[in-house]
Amino acid sequence: MPRKILLDCDPGHDDAVALLLAHGSPEIELLAVTTVAGNQTLEKVTRNAVAVAPVGGMAGVPFAAGCARPLLRTLAVAGDIHGESGLDGPVLPEPDPARDVRPDPRHAVDMIIDTVLAHPPGSVTLVPTGPLTNIALAVRKEPRIVERVAEVVLMGGAYARGNRTPVTEFNIGCDPEAAQIVFREPWPVTMVGLDLTHQALATPAVVARIAELGTAPSRFVADLLEFFAGTYRTLQGFAAPPVHDPCAVAFVIDPGVLTTRRAPLDVELHGALTTGMTVADLRGPEPAHCHTRVAVTLDPERFWDLVVDALARIGDP
Ligand code: BDR
Ligand code: CA
Repeated sequence: MPRKILLDCDPGHDDAVALLLAHGSPEIELLAVTTVAGNQTLEKVTRNAVAVAPVGGMAGVPFAAGCARPLLRTLAVAGDIHGESGLDGPVLPEPDPARDVRPDPRHAVDMIIDTVLAHPPGSVTLVPTGPLTNIALAVRKEPRIVERVAEVVLMGGAYARGNRTPVTEFNIGCDPEAAQIVFREPWPVTMVGLDLTHQALATPAVVARIAELGTAPSRFVADLLEFFAGTYRTLQGFAAPPVHDPCAVAFVIDPGVLTTRRAPLDVELHGALTTGMTVADLRGPEPAHCHTRVAVTLDPERFWDLVVDALARIGDP
């Protein structure tokens, strides 16, 4: 039985790859895609999500736009990393009414709630790969979803070092209040943070493997990764860019692709230097009962096999 997921994202280069990975993997049923302001404005990330859909032949998947800003803070986009459009690099397909998805008129928060409640308890996994604004509002609007979702597997946070600041990761730093709500609800949460995603490096060999598939989606991904490599090289000193968001999707497809450990987690909201930091208590033995876990070690070969296999399955839609 494929695992049902809802992907809440802010495309974003790595979000776009996460979308294609989810769509191309038979282990996953992609129930819906929702967007949230983060890497760029809501308008831009929604346009990007809608533009990726025909690249992957995702016509049947419902899309809905969500929150245009964090709960309390001012939106600070990541144009330095993802470009002015949020998806700089590849040429996006021209709008085509025959292939394009039309965003659902519902707000993403309502689509999240409706999607969870429409399926049997314990069957829907939420996979947020952007700021947690939509998810936090959904759980405040409809608290019953806490008991209904199977788990939340999110890309965000870090227990060692940050990227937005020395200790804060971008998604959590964008909307730390939302993140605190999501971490404090008693549902199972796996934090796939920078500690893990910095092991998912799109080396030239990986990009060549993807490009060799020779399909339109594989060229699209290779172009995305080429742009991403440039900004990560210049701004963060990476020899190859870490492809964060697909790691969360990969964990749902194949839990053996990474290791996790249980750890109490919370988000700093009042630090002079540390606001948005995810504080993981890794002291002592792993607690026997704890609803939060952190991802620790990636099997990079197994991970890239999942990405390449998904793109090969998508073919030339
Ligand atoms: C996260 O921030 C965004 O720029 C990426 O899409 C990813 O979700 C990594 O810190
Ligand atoms: Ca993202």
